[in-house]
Amino acid sequence: MTEASSSHVISPGRVAVVTGAASGIGLGLSERFAAEGMRVVMADVEEPALRRSAGEIARNGGDVLAVVTDVSKREQVEALAEQAVGAYGGVNLLCNNAGVGGPHDPIWTVPEGDWDWVLGVNLWGVIHGVRAFLPLLLEQDVAHVLNTSSIFGVFAGALGPYAISKHAVTALSETLYFNLRQVGAPVGVSVLCPGAVKTNFGTSARNRPANLPPPPDTETAARAAASKEQFDRLSALGSEPSEVADIVVEGIRSGRFYILTSTNRNEAVRRRGEEILQGAPPAPPFPFPPPAGPEV
Ligand SMILES: NC(=O)c1ccc[n+]([C@@H]2O[C@H](COP(=O)([O-])OP(=O)(O)OC[C@H]3O[C@@H](n4cnc5c(N)ncnc54)[C@H](O)[C@@H]3O)[C@@H](O)[C@H]2O)c1
Repeated sequence: MTEASSSHVISPGRVAVVTGAASGIGLGLSERFAAEGMRVVMADVEEPALRRSAGEIARNGGDVLAVVTDVSKREQVEALAEQAVGAYGGVNLLCNNAGVGGPHDPIWTVPEGDWDWVLGVNLWGVIHGVRAFLPLLLEQDVAHVLNTSSIFGVFAGALGPYAISKHAVTALSETLYFNLRQVGAPVGVSVLCPGAVKTNFGTSARNRPANLPPPPDTETAARAAASKEQFDRLSALGSEPSEVADIVVEGIRSGRFYILTSTNRNEAVRRRGEEILQGAPPAPPFPFPPPAGPEV
């Protein structure tokens, strides 16, 4: 396999594993991969939504396997890899996509349990994915890893543990890319950095572990409501998951490492480089509070 060959990974008969596949971007990717003739292992922690989404794709003729998985748990991700191999014999494309928002409070006030939850899903989920699946991908003639970070994995804003976890996913993806080149393994890597997308992300607290202590005070609850409202407003102006899937497919086929989903954050990305070189403090990626207009 040559480095460029992973650009052919999206093709009939190849096997994709998508985490966070029951909803939003993961569902959009799963639908598109199935339509391309791939066999798709759909993993998600939300069983009813997963069964519904996988059933719908299967009714439309897709070859899918639904596996209930909490990506923050190493054993469950290892079991996911085993089930994928058991069903389809191998894996060509791993999409570490599951993610949650978490609290946007000042980070010194965020309870440890919420740090554990957000980093557990957003960062450890990707680490478990890489550790469980890379040995399988290395056996294939064509293989690729897509990690879902965020545009907030490029600049931080004030989104609490979320942007911190997403910066780690971006760094992990670059590290993985270099490691694969170091050992001469031509497995491809891309990191997806979406801007706003119309998904159920604004209600990701639905997956907050039941055993976490409730948010500590009313101020936190008020801020969470404000963040949700802000997210919903931006999200309503965002891309459709199917558009993101189109961009991902085109991005992998054309060998892109960074895959962005809109151009309206380009200025903020450029500015970040300048700030670093000039020693300047970070400018907010959008005015606070964010505008009601189409600046997503
Ligand atoms: N929607 C956006 O605007 C946006 C922007 C940038 C990045 N992202 C990223 O895109 C990814 C997908 O999010 P989305 O917007 O489609 O949201 P979504 O809530 O619609 O989908 C996320 C899916 O992840 C699943 N999930 C949550 N915790 C899980 C766990 N522990 N194990 C397995 N699955 C779990 C959820 O059940 C859900 O089906 C996330 O990583 C998110 O950070 C989203």
